Amino acid sequence: MKKLGICWEGMERQFEDLLAGQALRFTPLRYLEIGVCHCETTQGAYHILKESLGSFDFDVVAVDLEDDPEPSFVIQARKDRRITRVIGESERFLPTISKPFHFVLIDGCHSERCATVDFLNVEKLSIVGTIVLFHDFQESAQGGDIQGHCQKPIGVRDAVKKLGLMDGTRPRWKRLSDLKGDPKLGGADCGVFQRI
Ligand SMILES: C[S@@+](CC[C@H](N)C(=O)[O-])C[C@H]1O[C@@H](n2cnc3c(N)ncnc32)[C@H](O)[C@@H]1O
Repeated sequence: MKKLGICWEGMERQFEDLLAGQALRFTPLRYLEIGVCHCETTQGAYHILKESLGSFDFDVVAVDLEDDPEPSFVIQARKDRRITRVIGESERFLPTISKPFHFVLIDGCHSERCATVDFLNVEKLSIVGTIVLFHDFQESAQGGDIQGHCQKPIGVRDAVKKLGLMDGTRPRWKRLSDLKGDPKLGGADCGVFQRI
């Protein structure tokens, strides 16, 4: 089981199964993570993909505002031409790309506005089968933790509700089972949605 990043305790196996399953479905699999921080989840995803595919048949795109020191796996992954690390605001970067993604983790600014904007940009980069995860999805996190990016609290669930993802009214999307973290260990949950 791969170690993942911030507040993933209890979700590691579920994340691994979901990503590995998706990697068998799409080749080459394109993975996007919005908000990577120290790249720990990115690193886990990179190794899950490498091991489940037994090859380098995938692309990882990692976006963050902050220019953290480069983890060593990123240096190697870049040599293998398997990772693109982007420093900047997701809402500026995402509209500049056109190639679709098959697996997306939305984990940048968690305000209602930014989670909404990230999803709307990701939606344009989705195809049938694309899976999108929203981290910090659990009810108990909503309204807390003022976000550094826009000084607003976590509003991921409100974003998901207003996008029509929660009740299935958004055309061409369905809700899958949440990933459930272990709150005793500090784990959050992820809301999981799939383009149909
Ligand atoms: C919760 S951390 C990400 C954790 C990481 N995904 C993990 O699993 O360990 C949120 C990150 O999002 C970044 N971030 C915040 N607002 C952003 C934005 N508008 N665009 C890109 N990154 C953003 C922050 O710099 C921070 O590193």
